[in-house]
Amino acid sequence: MSNAHGDIAAQKRQAGEAALRYVEDGAIVGVGTGSTVAFFIDALAGVKDRIKGAVSSSEQSTAQLKKHGIEVLDLNGAGPLAIYIDGADECDPHKRLIKGGGAALTREKIVAAAAAKFVCIIDASKQVDVLGRFPLPIEVIPMARSLVSREIVKLGGQPVWRDGVVTDNGNWIIDVHGWRIADPVALERELNQLAGVVTVGLFAQRPADVVLVGDREV
Ligand code: 5RP
Repeated sequence: MSNAHGDIAAQKRQAGEAALRYVEDGAIVGVGTGSTVAFFIDALAGVKDRIKGAVSSSEQSTAQLKKHGIEVLDLNGAGPLAIYIDGADECDPHKRLIKGGGAALTREKIVAAAAAKFVCIIDASKQVDVLGRFPLPIEVIPMARSLVSREIVKLGGQPVWRDGVVTDNGNWIIDVHGWRIADPVALERELNQLAGVVTVGLFAQRPADVVLVGDREV
């Protein structure tokens, strides 16, 4: 698919393949979720004999890794990871991200936190000056959906329940529209305090370290 940003699918593939440059021999690789990461997993299969295995952020990525014969390890036994590769829904000039379009944000945030280096792989349509055009996903404990939604309205957002979606952790997603997120670190901290919030799809306190737009590091 092409738009004002060029051939999106081609850029996703280029980014997924270019991320291999950051995978060192013997590494346990943290693996994100999404269509861009799917290209990375396909590329990783080509070098599977020189890595120790992968820690996955979703059932979807686990299935694809296993299909390729890549060993999937439990994070508890893997120790600190050298690298985490994942996509994003939006990326600002400070490498702060919105993630969670694929509802995998909680495990993604955990695996990112365990990794020394986070390489984010995107196409040019994901680049923004200020985060918030993409609705901000928030994973909530199901019984807290209305409570959290009321708090979001007080903060000026428009919460929309992603009805029918259950995360890998058995929780629900609220997508918040209408926020121009000038200070993502502060908003991430504030939303993390709300009772019932499991994970906020802002990756600002721990942003990416490297961003690849197609095969170009920015
Ligand atoms: C999943 C995510 C994905 O990284 C994000 O949605 C980008 O996906 P894609 O590579 O398919 O555009 O955060 O929870």
